[in-house]
Amino acid sequence: MKIFVTGAAGFIGSHLVEDLLSDGHHVTGLDDLSTGRLSNLRVVAGHPGFRLVQGSILDEALVSELTAGCQQVYHLAAAVGSFVIRDRTLESLRTNIHGTENVVDAAARCGAVLLAASTSEIYGKNMKPGLCEDDDRIIGSPLKSRWSYAEAKAIDESLIDAYSRERGLKAVIIRFFNTVGPRQTGRYGMVIPRFTRQALAGESLTVYGTGDQIRCFCHVYDVIPALTKLIAAPAAYGLAVNLGSNEPISINDLAERIIAATDSASVVTHTPYLDAYGSGYEDMQRRIPDCTLARTLCGFTPRRTLDDIVAAVVNDQEASRSAVVAS
Ligand SMILES: NC(=O)c1ccc[n+]([C@@H]2O[C@H](COP(=O)([O-])OP(=O)(O)OC[C@H]3O[C@@H](n4cnc5c(N)ncnc54)[C@H](O)[C@@H]3O)[C@@H](O)[C@H]2O)c1
Repeated sequence: MKIFVTGAAGFIGSHLVEDLLSDGHHVTGLDDLSTGRLSNLRVVAGHPGFRLVQGSILDEALVSELTAGCQQVYHLAAAVGSFVIRDRTLESLRTNIHGTENVVDAAARCGAVLLAASTSEIYGKNMKPGLCEDDDRIIGSPLKSRWSYAEAKAIDESLIDAYSRERGLKAVIIRFFNTVGPRQTGRYGMVIPRFTRQALAGESLTVYGTGDQIRCFCHVYDVIPALTKLIAAPAAYGLAVNLGSNEPISINDLAERIIAATDSASVVTHTPYLDAYGSGYEDMQRRIPDCTLARTLCGFTPRRTLDDIVAAVVNDQEASRSAVVAS
């Protein structure tokens, strides 16, 4: 198949591209390299079935041109990361709303099946253990920029739903819960790569807030096969599907786990949200998915544990540090 991947140089996108190429597909990637990196695509550079176009999903004509003739579109490009959303709120809103509309419209016009990345942030402050796809959203004020990412992704979901019902678009929406693994960077606020970098450098691991927040982390290698199965599953079209693990851990315990895994002498410190993010920041205290729908649709069952994930991120960062030293 001819497949178009937006956000191809990103963390999830680069792993997806590798998987699609190994299955013999022809892949065109689009990325503006704002949080993505060319080095993420080192393994596939020069592959005859792959082409990366540097550009933006805000470029409607380019998106239209790259979508033409494709049977599938994976839309992963987005402004991502709590620091990016805080510091570049306007640009992030435009990317995540107008950019997505360009991709959705192009997919609908050329009859490609669309898989679009959404987020567990959609559920906001809903604390229910085992969040289901039709659970209510509990979101703070739209004037708190923290919620603008969830708001934009929610508009994307409504847009895709409308295109599906009114324009015959075939699409599945994926609500990623924290997805982690090699190549994810901690620079934009992702907690496991950030803690790992701090532990390996012997710095304090800075926990934001009390550290009692509960999260579930899923290995990207468990997520990628589910994406390729769900885009090919007509029963998934028109639906939003949670993808995540069911191994909850508090951020305090996560920090200790990473210190132990790296055999580090680092200590854990706590930074109030106010100092980390500025005024008006709110967090969700617990985010645990119910993935029954994904299991029913494509047999999704994460196999890698949190210890596997931490080990993979530690190996990845140690390899990067060795490469820098050697060069
Ligand atoms: N990793 C997670 O835990 C997680 C959780 C929830 C949702 N998601 C969603 O999954 C998708 C992929 O996220 P990721 O974790 O791989 O992050 P990422 O930052 O590594 O990937 C996003 C990619 O989009 C690119 N991009 C940003 N703006 C663009 C634009 N205007 N035009 C073209 N490319 C642009 C970036 O350069 C980057 O390569 C995103 O849509 C994100 O919202 C991820």
